[in-house]
Amino acid sequence: MCDVIMVRTFEQSIIDTFAASSRVPVINGLTNEYHPCQILADVFTYIDHRGPIRGKTVAWIGDSNNVCNTWLQAAETFDFKLNVSTPPGYELEKKSKYVESFADPMKAATGADLVTTDVWTSMGFEAENEERRRDFQDWQVDAEMMRAAKKDALFMHCLPAHRGEEVAAEVIDGPQSVVWDEAENRLHTQKALLEFLVVGRK
Ligand code: NVA
Repeated sequence: MCDVIMVRTFEQSIIDTFAASSRVPVINGLTNEYHPCQILADVFTYIDHRGPIRGKTVAWIGDSNNVCNTWLQAAETFDFKLNVSTPPGYELEKKSKYVESFADPMKAATGADLVTTDVWTSMGFEAENEERRRDFQDWQVDAEMMRAAKKDALFMHCLPAHRGEEVAAEVIDGPQSVVWDEAENRLHTQKALLEFLVVGRK
């Protein structure tokens, strides 16, 4: 009865099983491992503000979660560099020539064209909330970190954000932040995705 199905769920294996039995395209609306629709919007937002993302440096500060994993897929697809800094014990599992890992988040942000982060605790991991709040306290994107990035660096966040945790209010509400355009672009990029899947046009 449907032309396209979007599934937002937890383990990636759930959507993989679903897609293997589906005769129509299945869009990943978010899993524990990946969040491709978000990164389509994020890459589009970067291009819309600053031009091609190829050859640029994106700094990911915080949890190596679904959004971070998908930034890595984007780096491999669009050919840009991903600097990742996570607290010890939360490192990105996948190794790639597109990723450089940094123990110090300031170093990851240094010279970046885009600084981005996400909540310290993703959906489904709420039981780890207190522990993560302690582990991530030095991984906040604040004004000092934005100063280490390029002068015209953008700040992005997939939202909802926790001001005072992963991002300082003055950054998310400041002039380098494009979070509202980024949120609006979820609509436009997902319309493009549907068009591509339904009528096959790029
Ligand atoms: N990493 C977050 C993204 C929310 C849009 C989560 O999975 O909860």
